[in-house]
Amino acid sequence: MSQIATLEVNGKKYEFPILEGTENELAIDIKTLRGVTEGVTTIDAGFKNTGSCKSAITFLDGEKGILRYRGYAIEELADKADFLETSYLLIFGELPTEAELQKFHDDILEESLVDEEMKKILDGFPKSAHPMGVLSALTSALIAFNPESVNADSKEEMYSAIVKIMAKFPVLAAWTLRKKTGLPLDYGDKHLGYVQNLYKMMFNKPNDEFKINPIVLNALDKLLILHADHEQNCSTSTVRIVGSSHAGLFASISAGISALWGPLHGGANQAVIEMLEDIKNDGGDYHKYLAKAKDKSDPFRLMGFGHRVYKNFDPRAKIIQVAAEEVLADLGIVDPVLDIARGLSEEALKDEYFKSRNLYPNVDFYSGIIYRALGIPVEMFTVMFAIGRLPGWIAQWKEMRENHEPIGRPRQLYVGKTLRGFVPIEKR
Ligand code: CMC
Repeated sequence: MSQIATLEVNGKKYEFPILEGTENELAIDIKTLRGVTEGVTTIDAGFKNTGSCKSAITFLDGEKGILRYRGYAIEELADKADFLETSYLLIFGELPTEAELQKFHDDILEESLVDEEMKKILDGFPKSAHPMGVLSALTSALIAFNPESVNADSKEEMYSAIVKIMAKFPVLAAWTLRKKTGLPLDYGDKHLGYVQNLYKMMFNKPNDEFKINPIVLNALDKLLILHADHEQNCSTSTVRIVGSSHAGLFASISAGISALWGPLHGGANQAVIEMLEDIKNDGGDYHKYLAKAKDKSDPFRLMGFGHRVYKNFDPRAKIIQVAAEEVLADLGIVDPVLDIARGLSEEALKDEYFKSRNLYPNVDFYSGIIYRALGIPVEMFTVMFAIGRLPGWIAQWKEMRENHEPIGRPRQLYVGKTLRGFVPIEKR
């Protein structure tokens, strides 16, 4: 039975259909609102109550702590799938058969070279440049070497653009690290798996045989899967809105990287480890920092805590916490920062301020600890997030283009000056 929402504006009643999703979520469809009310809009800063699209990719229930990609529970995917398989699932909608996965991987390998001219662009950056800025610029620069635009109605063109970015993005991401560490650029090895190859491109030394510890590989794979999509978050919404103007896939992803960089979004993983380091260097008293986070006159926030959607717990944080403990134990690393992280989260979870606001550790609270154990420099943490989020961005961009969504163009409530006469400069 169709459901209806009634809205009364200045004494006049209007009806709007209520749409129901496959998980029984309800949404009032207000697309006719401005027309029927002759100009009334809604306002919802930060889009806390606004659905920007219908999507069949990721389901998230923030109250129950549920996250699913294409219907599969994140816990099961993190346990049983690998990152490339998960990427295929997100982008194409179904888990691949062995042959489909092999073809996807082969096609990616075929495209995994980057034009040598790109190195000149990389050379132009100072060594001190933040890798996220470099990655965003390099991704955008890829357009110069692949100028053809994608016809969203052509399966072949769509597939080719997807394979190209899946192939070249890890190369560029690894180069941002090698630029920082001063290592010669590496194109990886066609005989390695996707994540193994990423690791090689990042860390391989020209005078040493490449080896990867299976514990490290497994942890990296898991982290990438956990970051692979998160429905309409800030960077994904950016990718969709940029793409809605029919800007290409690479341009849209470059914009998504910039959005992800911010400390309230993907940049939080760097901010968390820096915060934990600060606490350690300040004597390890995390109670002092909890007090700062609660003090409204202090801008300090507990990084890695809170989430726009999860108001119970972040299921990714649960998986990552266990993985962090395992990786550190397996690698025999004693990291005092992990003790501070444990203490801080235990105290915060008992504290009325955090309890009453439903603030729980999020995915970034523990991911930095693993990245650090894997020898990844702090400034690269958000780049790791970007590599993980790439298939999500691609899937969301593809869905938006295939659904022929209109250009994203919100309204506003103007609160500035009303019409006034121009004042000549000598009279101001
Ligand atoms: N530390 C202290 N207080 C906080 C925190 C925090 N980390 N997060 C939220 N609050 C308080 C906030 O001050 C507000 O209090 P009050 O109601 O008294 O004004 C209340 O909780 C609600 O916060 P909000 O800012 O309205 O919530 P939001 O949904 O707009 O923000 C958030 C979500 C993730 C931006 C925010 O929780 C935050 O800044 N967290 C720290 C940064 C972080 O860890 N970001 C990573 C998010 S997960 C990775 C990703 O998906 O990008």
